[in-house]
Amino acid sequence: MRRWFVVVSYLAAAISGIEVGSATPQDALKIGVVIPMTGAFAAVGREVAAGAKLYIQQHGDTVAGQKIELIIRDDAGVPDNGKRLAQELIVKDRVSFLGAGTTATAMAMAPLSTEGKVATVVMVSGTSVVTERSPYYVRTSFTLGQQSGIIADWAIQNGSKKAVAIVTDWTPGTEASKVFEQHFIKGGGQVLDTLRVPLANPDFAPFLQRARDLRPDTLFVFVPAGQAGTLARQFAERGLDKSGIKLVGTGDIVDDDDLPGTGDTFLGVVTAGFYSAAHASRTNKDYVAAYAKATGHRANFISVGGYDGMHLIYQALEKTGGKIDADTVIEAMKGMKWESPRGPTSIDPRTRDIVQDVYIRKVERVNGEPWAVEFATFEAIKDPLKEPAAE
Ligand code: PHB
Repeated sequence: MRRWFVVVSYLAAAISGIEVGSATPQDALKIGVVIPMTGAFAAVGREVAAGAKLYIQQHGDTVAGQKIELIIRDDAGVPDNGKRLAQELIVKDRVSFLGAGTTATAMAMAPLSTEGKVATVVMVSGTSVVTERSPYYVRTSFTLGQQSGIIADWAIQNGSKKAVAIVTDWTPGTEASKVFEQHFIKGGGQVLDTLRVPLANPDFAPFLQRARDLRPDTLFVFVPAGQAGTLARQFAERGLDKSGIKLVGTGDIVDDDDLPGTGDTFLGVVTAGFYSAAHASRTNKDYVAAYAKATGHRANFISVGGYDGMHLIYQALEKTGGKIDADTVIEAMKGMKWESPRGPTSIDPRTRDIVQDVYIRKVERVNGEPWAVEFATFEAIKDPLKEPAAE
């Protein structure tokens, strides 16, 4: 009896031209995120995925009447993998949205997003040019320029005159030092040297020593997520925490993922960043508590890119009534505003890039652990490298 029913159903489906045998319901709307779950950037993949999953857990897996399925693919930090995985997600899995991660992979995936016409949320990359690589790219992460100009101005206003910059030898690092130098020099300061540290398995010690030998009053540093712990250890080993040289940087160097393990090393360090787990809003307190419950550790700046990335997709689907064609979705995302755990956030309708508050924060010990405590706010900061005045 049952077998007959199955045969009849297949026949009926075949006659009416409907595909059968697919494991997922046809109306499941898929979001394919390509991030590094293994390799040197594994901590980045872990946090961005945890942020995205937490959003779905809190808001349910149905939006505008459609069931959502999150697919996470591990690129291991290798751009060619990312390209192949994005291709598979578009062609085989027929995803409606893509999520892009770190800079090199996000760059490699861009032509696929364009040709496949798939709205893609950049959830990690901090490189300015990434959003210009596809008309279907929208960013919920950050740019390094947003942070490094503001910290340069702060340093100048607080008496810095001679700086050395240490940055990762990689596009985000180049942009961080470029914007830092522009602002520091414009403010009357002198940049004695800019030292570039290899991205893979960095040994900061010789660079820290060289910076110290140049006798600056200020050291500006950018290293990407996952490297702050090593930086702190080598900084302390060289005695730089007691050298009198003021350490400043982008938010990455006091990553909440690593900060709890850095002891006293970074106490007093001032950074410009868009997210601190210590951000005092109700939205963030709830986020940090839910994140700790889900993962067992502190939320960091990478995690909010994943959380807000899902929020942007959910909001766009609500606005389009479930329509997923990339042109309609991107139009819906342009100008979108929301209250993120990081603070008030929006998408610049001109550039599809994120506009967010940037805070000056000082590392302080609170309840026994170091936290980046915000003490000044710069509102609605755009990517300076896309603003005509910066060119
Ligand atoms: C990037 O992929 O551009 C990236 C990743 C982690 C960071 C900064 C930039 O901390």
